[in-house]
Amino acid sequence: MDSKHLGDELTTVLHTEAELHARLAEMAREIEADYPETPPLLVGVLKGAVMVMADLARELRFHAQMDWMAVSSYGAGTKSSGVVKILKDLDADITDRDVLIVEDIIDSGLTLSWLKDNLESRGARSVRICTMLRKPEALKVEVDVAYVGFDIPVEFVVGYGLDYAEDYRNLRDVGVLAPHVYGGDGK
Ligand code: XMP
Ligand code: MG
Repeated sequence: MDSKHLGDELTTVLHTEAELHARLAEMAREIEADYPETPPLLVGVLKGAVMVMADLARELRFHAQMDWMAVSSYGAGTKSSGVVKILKDLDADITDRDVLIVEDIIDSGLTLSWLKDNLESRGARSVRICTMLRKPEALKVEVDVAYVGFDIPVEFVVGYGLDYAEDYRNLRDVGVLAPHVYGGDGK
């Protein structure tokens, strides 16, 4: 679905599909250079990372194996609490493997910080993070992120895998959701 099909549901298009793809190509070149010997296992975080994973994996010029996790953050409301429950675990054994976590967005950083520690504790040789979007001003914990597509303002964004109540994931672009859709200020 294109942004033009959404009427007034977005206040702004932050990054078009073309911009996202161009940036992913640049990130793929960096990733290839950083793993000259053995390709990392790509670990996508469901469901938001599905689009990034599909596009990044196809852009990479090495055999990109993919695995998936689903996690949910405990706590009241929509904000991340940092207490994470694994809903779907990896199929692969990551002992001695290089792992590259593929994410849609880093907001507070609490989920990713927990996930990185969790994967390291399983004996992975290395764990790095790749995210399409990051909200630097929303970070609550230091997270070492090796590859970032775009830094964005602290607004609630949808599209390219990101949802509001499970809608908008199939929007090609990333846009700011209009407050009248969800009745909030997005912060
Ligand atoms: P933390 O705060 O732990 O959470 O970094 C990251 C997760 O929160 C969700 N999230 C968003 N989802 N639009 C969304 O559709 C947003 O602007 C947004 N900010 C955070 C998302 O699931 C992400 O993995
Ligand atoms: Mg997510």
